[in-house]
Amino acid sequence: MLSADGLELGYAGAPVVRGVGLSVSPGQVFALLGANGAGKSTVARALAGVLPVRGGTVTLDGVDITSLSSNDRVRRGLSLVPEGRHLFGRSTVRDNILLGAYTRTRHQRAESFDRVMELFPQLPRLLGKRAKDLSGGEQQMVAVGRALMADPRYLILDEPSLGLAPIYVDLILRQAGSLAAAGVGVLLIEQNVGKALDVAGGAAVIENGTVSLEGSADDLRRDPRVVDLYLGGMS
Ligand SMILES: Nc1ncnc2c1ncn2[C@@H]1O[C@H](COP(=O)(O)OP(=O)(O)OP(=O)(O)O)[C@@H](O)[C@H]1O
Ligand SMILES: [Mg+2]
Repeated sequence: MLSADGLELGYAGAPVVRGVGLSVSPGQVFALLGANGAGKSTVARALAGVLPVRGGTVTLDGVDITSLSSNDRVRRGLSLVPEGRHLFGRSTVRDNILLGAYTRTRHQRAESFDRVMELFPQLPRLLGKRAKDLSGGEQQMVAVGRALMADPRYLILDEPSLGLAPIYVDLILRQAGSLAAAGVGVLLIEQNVGKALDVAGGAAVIENGTVSLEGSADDLRRDPRVVDLYLGGMS
């Protein structure tokens, strides 16, 4: 399990996240929902070791990883696909994907590469293109593919569907479900609340840096506050 407990996070000034806890089980999509600026990416960065914590702990399968570097977390099976993708635009798709395999042996790299190509059959014909020449949806597949090259047991997807055409939104969220079905624990940060809850087992809503609601995806889908705020009152 990937767990956070009592996270206190912030940047230079005031605290941004206060007392946040959550758990992601292997084989499950856990959705982290909330409005712009609520603190979702801040939590994602702290889990991945990109942002140091001010308080609280992060554990991975029972091991306290709170003070490990992001590279060490990747080696232990925890990868982040950051918001905005952060690809190297002038590098090829192939090189961007291979960058995710820096912790692996040549043999593991070849195996993971084949698996990523199977998972995203759209990628093989794009390998020689520069990342910046791809559509948003194609770029998101490259970003997820790059993270999968480390063969993570836990994967954090920070708003993978942001700015994508609906067909890609569905594709990316379906892939998140397939990864979970293959045993990966997926933390899915999403603004598409209805679609995220469709693939998630559990979910939490973060408001102003604290968890305001948590439960099974079914519970949250029926919660009047979720319906009013995030599902347009239609469900
Ligand atoms: N690098 C930073 N330096 C200072 N403040 C930051 C930084 N990144 C985020 N913040 C602030 O922290 C708060 C939470 O931001 P965060 O990016 O975690 O929100 P979010 O829930 O991911 O929002 P969004 O849905 O828009 O991505 C915001 O008030 C934001 O302005
Ligand atoms: Mg964010």
